[in-house]
Amino acid sequence: MTAAPTAVSPDSSDRLSRAIERLELAVPLPSEHLAQDEEWVVARVGREWRRIRLHDYGDVFAVPGLYEKWIYRVLRCASPARIRDLMQQALRKSGRSAGSLTVLDLGAGNGCVAEALRAIGIRRFVGVDICPEAATAAERDRPGLYQAYVVTDLTDPDADAMQRLTSVRCNALTCVAALGFSDIPPAVFSTAFNLVEDGGLIAFTIKTDFLDEADQTGFSVLIRRLLTEKRLSVQCQERYVHRRTIDGRLLEYEAFVGTKHGGIPGAWLTS
Ligand SMILES: C[S@@+](CC[C@H](N)C(=O)[O-])C[C@H]1O[C@@H](n2cnc3c(N)ncnc32)[C@H](O)[C@@H]1O
Repeated sequence: MTAAPTAVSPDSSDRLSRAIERLELAVPLPSEHLAQDEEWVVARVGREWRRIRLHDYGDVFAVPGLYEKWIYRVLRCASPARIRDLMQQALRKSGRSAGSLTVLDLGAGNGCVAEALRAIGIRRFVGVDICPEAATAAERDRPGLYQAYVVTDLTDPDADAMQRLTSVRCNALTCVAALGFSDIPPAVFSTAFNLVEDGGLIAFTIKTDFLDEADQTGFSVLIRRLLTEKRLSVQCQERYVHRRTIDGRLLEYEAFVGTKHGGIPGAWLTS
């Protein structure tokens, strides 16, 4: 089973571990066959049982330990560990050191990906997420992990958010388990991609359905164009099981780690 990530400082780590252990969950019957963006759980919060939909991230992150217990322990999510291993391989191949990276973590959530990357020696992270509760949870559960955490909608970021994001020179991007559905659209991914220096490391995971010719999200076309027009050269690419669903299906994702060689022009998103 994939272990739930543990937190950074011993105190917060203990608090989070206790919250994970104590949290009582009830899951839907396997016969419900829920779509990936319809999945829900019932969690005991104080004296009440609360039904929470996974894609209502604010509600999920508001409950300490819920994301870790549900997504890592119950559904066995492997994505942060997979991207950690592939980034380590890419660093070895390129001769770069983990300590030289400043990572822009797009769709950062409560910090599970940054925590996994910290274990291979990456020390500087800037989180971006649309959800204020994600930022609060990251600081509650993994204090000090992010040098900055910007809550913004990158389709229309305000001046303060852009100033905070451009004031740090990021030479790596991570975006794990956050592309497509009603989550991160191509325009937001492109803005984040363009914030990373040329020569920077780009690491992301995406559901394989969104790479099909039939994909309607725009990611299939965007990723193919990034590769054919050599704005991204891939060092490591792997198909893997992101996690299971409560009715036992395996969700197949693809992880990419590569080097950025140029920005995404705005025209790509409209043509
Ligand atoms: C499934 S969680 C993944 C969190 C983290 N990457 C991980 O793997 O633990 C998806 C995250 O993407 C964020 N998200 C969704 N839409 C977004 C958007 N348009 N811009 C930034 N973040 C977004 C959500 O708030 C949530 O924190």
